[in-house]
Amino acid sequence: MGYLHFLAVFAAMAPLTQCHYTFVRIKANGEWQEPMRYIRNLTSPFDEKQLVDSNMIWREWNWPTYTLDFPDSVRCGRGNLDHANATEVLTVKAGDTVEIAQQRSPPHDWTHDMFYGCPDDRGTCDPRPGYKQDFNHPGPLIVHLSKVPDGQDIHTYDGSGNWIKIHSRGLGSLADERPLKWELFTDVPPHLTFKIPPQTPAGQYLMRMDVVMSGVVTEWTKPGDLGILAQFYPSCAQLNILSNATTTTTLPKGVAIPEIFAPDRPGMTTSYEMYHFRTLDENYTYPGGPVWTGERLVEDKPN
Ligand SMILES: *[C@@H]1O[C@H](CO)[C@@H](O)[C@H](O)[C@H]1NC(C)=O
Ligand SMILES: *[C@@H]1O[C@H](CO)[C@@H](O)[C@H](O)[C@H]1NC(C)=O
Ligand SMILES: *[C@@H]1O[C@H](CO)[C@@H](O)[C@H](O)[C@H]1NC(C)=O
Ligand SMILES: *[C@@H]1O[C@H](CO)[C@@H](O)[C@H](O)[C@H]1NC(C)=O
Repeated sequence: MGYLHFLAVFAAMAPLTQCHYTFVRIKANGEWQEPMRYIRNLTSPFDEKQLVDSNMIWREWNWPTYTLDFPDSVRCGRGNLDHANATEVLTVKAGDTVEIAQQRSPPHDWTHDMFYGCPDDRGTCDPRPGYKQDFNHPGPLIVHLSKVPDGQDIHTYDGSGNWIKIHSRGLGSLADERPLKWELFTDVPPHLTFKIPPQTPAGQYLMRMDVVMSGVVTEWTKPGDLGILAQFYPSCAQLNILSNATTTTTLPKGVAIPEIFAPDRPGMTTSYEMYHFRTLDENYTYPGGPVWTGERLVEDKPN
């Protein structure tokens, strides 16, 4: 029931050649970089693990990822390690502002005017009549950094270390409104800009970017239903962060991926009422662990 419901929602919201979304572009040092430059590509099509009670093994470029898929897929997208060596490393400074942009279409459908000349200095758009460059379902943006462990190289690092959330954007101060409004779930989402915390120690990092749609729990769902599993759309940039942070600065202990996205962890499911924007679940917490302000970790909940 839950899954059929999602399919109906997708069908109503997008032309079929547009799928979901993947972050494919970064604005850094004041300029939009080339699409996929500094971001590990994904492999498509790709065979995932067998999901509980489902035959959804075959996946294409921006199809959903589930927490029960291969850990590497949940960390940085399907097949990402096969593209890591060929991905350049973007140098930024701790404290810099960056912006990220998503694509609803897979690479073989990309055209020049989906990236260049976009209104309002956006990194992506879709000029085709009837198409939108949006997020086709609700959920929070979460951005994490994972420092490449000592002795490893970013071109081979698999993301099995610690991840620290540095940005999230969900219901914001609108949490008290009824119906609930997800900031990104609109025809023209806000510019997704955020700062690399100035206290970030120098080093190489993966930056994971995702908008997570929670699963929905109803009286009809049962364990193993795809509809109660959250959907992920991760991709990772390779960063070299320059920093004047003193050597005494240490990163807080982060979270492990995919463990933080296990089905029973915060933000992985919402009620039917919250799914339909009617009420905020009691104690709702955004997925992916607490957010690091640069000074401390704070619980990541709607205001
Ligand atoms: C990324 O992979 C897709 C196929 O999955 C391919 O069409 C595309 O050209 C690749 N992009 C880059 C920048 O390598
Ligand atoms: C990684 O890239 C470097 C430089 O392009 C190349 O010399 C090396 O053979 C590549 N390694 C693998 C495992 O593909
Ligand atoms: C470090 O501080 C110097 C002097 O204030 C400044 O010029 C430089 O841009 C800073 N570097 C970083 C990475 O913030
Ligand atoms: C509320 O969420 C926090 C953070 O995930 C968790 O530690 C706590 O146990 C939750 N409280 C209840 C009553 O569920």
